[in-house]
Amino acid sequence: MPSKVSCLYILTVVCWASALWYLSLSRPTSAYVGHMSLPIRKTAKAAKNVTFTNIRTRPLNAHAYEFVINEPNKCRDGAPFLVILISTTHKEFDARQAIRETWGDESAFSDLRVLTVFLLGRNTDDVLNQMVEQESQIFHDIVVEDFIDSYHNLTLKTMMGMRWVATFCPKAQYVMKTDSDVFVNMDNLLYKLLKPATKPRKRYFTGYVIHGGPIRDMRSKWYMSRDLYPESKYPPFCSGTGYVFSSDVAELIFKTSQHTRLLHLEDVYVGLCLRKLGIHPFQNTGFNHWKMAYSLCRYRRVITVHQISPEEMHRIWNDMSSKKHLRC
Ligand SMILES: *[C@@H]1O[C@H](CO)[C@@H](O)[C@H](O)[C@H]1NC(C)=O
Ligand SMILES: *[C@@H]1O[C@H](CO)[C@@H](O)[C@H](O)[C@H]1NC(C)=O
Repeated sequence: MPSKVSCLYILTVVCWASALWYLSLSRPTSAYVGHMSLPIRKTAKAAKNVTFTNIRTRPLNAHAYEFVINEPNKCRDGAPFLVILISTTHKEFDARQAIRETWGDESAFSDLRVLTVFLLGRNTDDVLNQMVEQESQIFHDIVVEDFIDSYHNLTLKTMMGMRWVATFCPKAQYVMKTDSDVFVNMDNLLYKLLKPATKPRKRYFTGYVIHGGPIRDMRSKWYMSRDLYPESKYPPFCSGTGYVFSSDVAELIFKTSQHTRLLHLEDVYVGLCLRKLGIHPFQNTGFNHWKMAYSLCRYRRVITVHQISPEEMHRIWNDMSSKKHLRC
């Protein structure tokens, strides 16, 4: 009798082992199985040479999207001081135009090169794709990859921006990521925060730092399921309405993202990548991620203000520009 029991036991163990082995082979992209199985198989076969890089050769998110519209030569004539990546959607023609004519006017800074790049995915409506294509031929400030443009794919949009900087503009000094309904006080950003005359920083990241946790209420815009993110706290992350970093961070985040399970909350996801990289974002409360009624003196003190319509953008810009001589 005991021998029968142990036979059965061994059979069960063997079955489980082969099932696990099979799973590890057939699902190489799944997060944990994939990462765990690779080094084990390698040690078993050839080398004792299991290094960190060996383990990480097979990306979780390959980000294998093609550029549908690109501006690969934007940085060829010299490295900009600041690249501003603006997350936008197809229909926001007015918002993009308002930015071009106000704070995003690249010719407004005679002493510094500032580049603005609008980020988009592919729309399911081809008419909109064509309109954006035409807009791009006029302004040459739009970059599009062939993922579906949707709220749930915002993270892909940001990663596209990181990839673009790392590939086509790696010599830029700083990068900002913001949204098309954000007003940016460029004087404060450039001269008070980034200070062109000072030594360029590395592994630098700043914005409005949020210490929060996942919202489990399914009705919320920021709902996060336990399956996707089981931990009760997020790492510190900067509000996606505006954050700024040294350009070396773009490549670091893009590469890290290829081994980090995607989350649809773009700013939380960037925070996760920063934690993996050991980069701590600096708190700067000048990055307002809420709406703030306009007053000249208030707006002079901040770096960003959220929820600004194209009309307000023009009004604020005109007022601030015409009152430069006034003191607060
Ligand atoms: C281990 O890997 C490194 C880098 O890939 C290589 O230079 C080295 O020769 C390898 N060593 C062995 C024992 O295979
Ligand atoms: C995100 O983009 C991918 C690639 O185009 C697409 O397969 C997926 O359906 C999109 N997700 C959402 C939620 O739109």
